[in-house]
Amino acid sequence: MSTQSVNRYALLKHAGRWLKSLVGRRRSDGLLQSAQTWEAQYATGRWDFLAELSELARFSVLAGYICHLKPGGTVLDTGCGQGVLLRRLPSSGYSKYVGIDLSASAIAVAQQHANDRSTFLAADCEEYSPAQQFDVIVFNEVLCCLHDPLRTVQRYVRALTPGGILLVSLCTAGRGTGKVLSGLKQAYATVDEVRIEHSGRKVSWVCTALRPEAHSGRV
Ligand SMILES: C[S@@+](CC[C@H](N)C(=O)[O-])C[C@H]1O[C@@H](n2cnc3c(N)ncnc32)[C@H](O)[C@@H]1O
Repeated sequence: MSTQSVNRYALLKHAGRWLKSLVGRRRSDGLLQSAQTWEAQYATGRWDFLAELSELARFSVLAGYICHLKPGGTVLDTGCGQGVLLRRLPSSGYSKYVGIDLSASAIAVAQQHANDRSTFLAADCEEYSPAQQFDVIVFNEVLCCLHDPLRTVQRYVRALTPGGILLVSLCTAGRGTGKVLSGLKQAYATVDEVRIEHSGRKVSWVCTALRPEAHSGRV
């Protein structure tokens, strides 16, 4: 082999490795994954940390927004996982809670924390149509898992009672967070927003309360 062919071979090999690492990065940075993958991850306890202390601030902000903005209201929690938000809500803070999640195993754990005012269902929130209206609809770390987050939120707005609010939590490092957040803010009025930064872990979240009435709801 000539020196020129060796160099060309080395260059191609290097480019191949670089492309492979790019694809690998793309595969691991998103949570747009199948129901089976969620099932497998819940089965291995991968998401159990969501009920731990280091996630408490995020849930507390969402629970606080519910209690302050819609005390005793009805709540729909899309992508509710193992039902941690219900566990963080004071009993007097809501009259009815419905949690839906793609993962049947997560829902099975959530059911263990259910009460006579709560219901958990295994369903795909990109297809599910609520049978009733809610005062609060929560998208807690789920929009980064959806194909078309803005369209999904827009579809759920129809299931809000007049004056109802949307609560969104987005991990700042999540897939498309900036784009999703700015799309939401263009479409809906921001009622309040906080950014939570965990000092110990390199993670931060933006929790936003939005109201659809002031805007057209078009995204
Ligand atoms: C990052 S976890 C967040 C869970 C929970 N909301 C929390 O904050 O602890 C994302 C959740 O969204 C669920 N999920 C993903 N895609 C979904 C979909 N299309 N419909 C309903 N749930 C979905 C997953 O099963 C998972 O429980």
